[in-house]
Amino acid sequence: MAKYKIALLPGDGIGKDVMDAAQIVLDKLALDAEYFPGDIGWEFWCQEGDPLPKRTTELLKKTDCCLFGAITSKPKEEAEAELAPELKGKGLVYSSPIVRLRQEFNLRTNLRPCKAYPGNPLNYRDDIDLVVFRENTEDLYAGVEFHPIPEEVMQTLVKHSPKMKRFAAVPLNDIAISLRIITRQASHNIVRDAFEYAKKYGYKSVTVVEKPNVIRETSGLFIREARKIAAEYPGIALWEANIDAMCMWLIKNPQDYGVIVTSNMFGDIISDLCAQLIGGLGFSSSGNIGDQYAVFEPTHGSAPKYAGQYKVNSMAMLLTVKLMLDWLGETEMAQRLEKAVSAVIAEGKTRTYDMGGSSSSLDIAKAVAAHL
Ligand code: NAI
Ligand code: MG
Repeated sequence: MAKYKIALLPGDGIGKDVMDAAQIVLDKLALDAEYFPGDIGWEFWCQEGDPLPKRTTELLKKTDCCLFGAITSKPKEEAEAELAPELKGKGLVYSSPIVRLRQEFNLRTNLRPCKAYPGNPLNYRDDIDLVVFRENTEDLYAGVEFHPIPEEVMQTLVKHSPKMKRFAAVPLNDIAISLRIITRQASHNIVRDAFEYAKKYGYKSVTVVEKPNVIRETSGLFIREARKIAAEYPGIALWEANIDAMCMWLIKNPQDYGVIVTSNMFGDIISDLCAQLIGGLGFSSSGNIGDQYAVFEPTHGSAPKYAGQYKVNSMAMLLTVKLMLDWLGETEMAQRLEKAVSAVIAEGKTRTYDMGGSSSSLDIAKAVAAHL
């Protein structure tokens, strides 16, 4: 029996292209794994009314982790219009399968490394090596929202918050509320993961990014948890930065930062900023990590205009495979893969369009495999 069981969910569009590239490299690495392809994405929404069929979650439960490509999502009206005729009008509602995976498997930590590999013409600087830890389950993205606001909710808010009084006269249909929910436990977990990562990989600082001077309660709670945990890691400096200033610092001195930890929405924003510093979507890998399970995915979407053309940069996916190997504990193999990707970048011979070349997604994988 193979040592690992790994689910492969290519999904839509270029998700399939980059998964084929990943397979070339996984074969070459000869990881002791059995692979289980699964269904996810738009075509299953259209044909079955569910972009994440039950058989796929069942499949994932039988595996150690999952490598995911990308999916297509479309607005409500289009989603309804593209359903198979027999599924229309049944009140089916599309919801993002990747968000559902994060919730169903409690993948509470989102990990996004951003390292500039020397020789990449798209690098903002060549000495950037930072990692963003983003809380993955709560904050403004918890989905607790009201519009119109129920009368009872409005009355309660006005009763308990003097600052709510000035909104009390707004018609309930002309005001919307999205709740920013931050729990001590989730803050604790993400900060703990960030410090453990810093310790394991030798980063000297952890920067906690919030806005406690304005969002006093939720950011305050997060920061206080961070300080408590930081005290247990005397060798690692805790830096605190406000989200707005941090965006400036990351443009001014990105090389100064190591591990960055933040809540869900700030993490969403800052991780895209960081990805662009090291070459953009063609280089940006990520892991969604829980206590029992993890889903690894390049951060790009399905890029429909390039679907099936094998044009896009598969390095994001190959670096995602590297993250997966690290998580599985195959550290030596992960390092070999990273070195091979880095060598192909430094050589500058095999480049996809985003790097100014005309190589294909599979050429990249083959060049990396040749270095392994
Ligand atoms: P996208 O990431 O799919 O593509 C935006 C543009 O970035 C592409 O047109 C292409 O020019 C470039 N790009 C993306 N990946 C690249 C790569 N590996 N190499 C080189 N260039 C690359 O984002 P977009 O166009 O906003 O969304 C397309 C679809 O993907 C939508 O349906 C959206 O909902 C979905 N999406 C899915 C995500 C996921 O699966 N996690 C994440 C983001 C978007
Ligand atoms: Mg995203």
